[in-house]
Amino acid sequence: MSLPSSGVLIPASKLPDVKTTIFTRMSELARQTGALNLSQGFPDFDGPRYLLERVQFHLTHGQNQYAPMAGVMPLREAIAEKVADLYGCHTDPLETVTVTAGATEALFCAIAAVVRPDDEVILFDPAYDSYDPVVRLQGGRTVRIPLTPPHYTVDWNRVADALSPRTRLIIVNTPHNPTGSVWSAADFAALRDLVRDREIYLLGDEVYEHIVFDGHAHHSLCADPELFGRSFVVSSFGKTYHVTGWKIGYCVAPAALTTEFRRVHQFVNFAANTPVQLGLADFLRAHPEHHRALGAFYQRKRDTLCAALAGSRLGVEPSAGTYFQLIDYAAVGDLHDVEFAEWLTRSAGLATIPVSVFHAVDPGRRVLRLCFAKDDTTLARAAEILCAL
Ligand SMILES: Cc1ncc(COP(=O)(O)O)c(C=O)c1O
Repeated sequence: MSLPSSGVLIPASKLPDVKTTIFTRMSELARQTGALNLSQGFPDFDGPRYLLERVQFHLTHGQNQYAPMAGVMPLREAIAEKVADLYGCHTDPLETVTVTAGATEALFCAIAAVVRPDDEVILFDPAYDSYDPVVRLQGGRTVRIPLTPPHYTVDWNRVADALSPRTRLIIVNTPHNPTGSVWSAADFAALRDLVRDREIYLLGDEVYEHIVFDGHAHHSLCADPELFGRSFVVSSFGKTYHVTGWKIGYCVAPAALTTEFRRVHQFVNFAANTPVQLGLADFLRAHPEHHRALGAFYQRKRDTLCAALAGSRLGVEPSAGTYFQLIDYAAVGDLHDVEFAEWLTRSAGLATIPVSVFHAVDPGRRVLRLCFAKDDTTLARAAEILCAL
């Protein structure tokens, strides 16, 4: 603590190295320069009309007070039906389903529920940026295992070597942001063998659960009865229904874990907003085909983008899931990826995300992430810029 002459107390930061996220910085740069924005992960199209209508209906029909702490019952029931239908996971929505302010809040609550000072949490690098700061706020420490390119697979020997008596949580993000890789059944079998007989919890960040390509299935922690017994499984309605600005998600976990999760949730947020929950409940019931068709919807966009990049000098391994595509620009330039991304935005008019920011230790690769949740004209213009490099 220090007390400067202004009289304002300045706290010693608990997260001194945390800056404004790269997503905010690149989106802001895109706005300032007028560049096409394929950086931050959000669609440039709207959510389904019927969903917007149902939310508006509830908003204008008196549903504007606090929802129950764990979420409105029709939505929790719809979520429980979905995980039963897709993953064969039959859970009681009263005790196992909690609606949250986006997946972000659910990730926070799950980590805060089980991680204590000096605990270790295993992450796979590159990792989505919200996990590490939350672990550190609990006094925990992340142990980061690099994924192996080009397909960003897990080296299970390295995971086995990283386990210690302090390992409390493993965060599993599949389909994976930023690489677009997807875990296989063999990955889950390896995970099962490693955690058996240890007090290690699992946090499944499955926000892209419906966006898996090429006929593969999404493997959910919900689908594995042995692993589910120690899992918090998190998803995001924002990703599935093209409404990222609504910040609404959920966590499914066995009752004992949900009890601890809700002990945190009720003081972080208490309850997610009511009209959006009710609108989503109506939509899930009426249009289950939406999430079932989402993989094909985004696969067409991935294929459009990859086909348009075929004539470029970029390395492109089509992603297996999510709405992200990595491009390797090593044949085009030697700048560090953060500098290259800035140059590309300012000079060529295309904003992307440099992948090094997702790593604890910069591996020195020349790789950028593109978000292809954009309309076809935007994707075609982005590809033209990239093909001209
Ligand atoms: C892997 C991953 N987890 C969680 C989130 C956060 O989801 P939400 O917007 O629902 O908080 C995102 C959003 O980009 C993400 O990519």
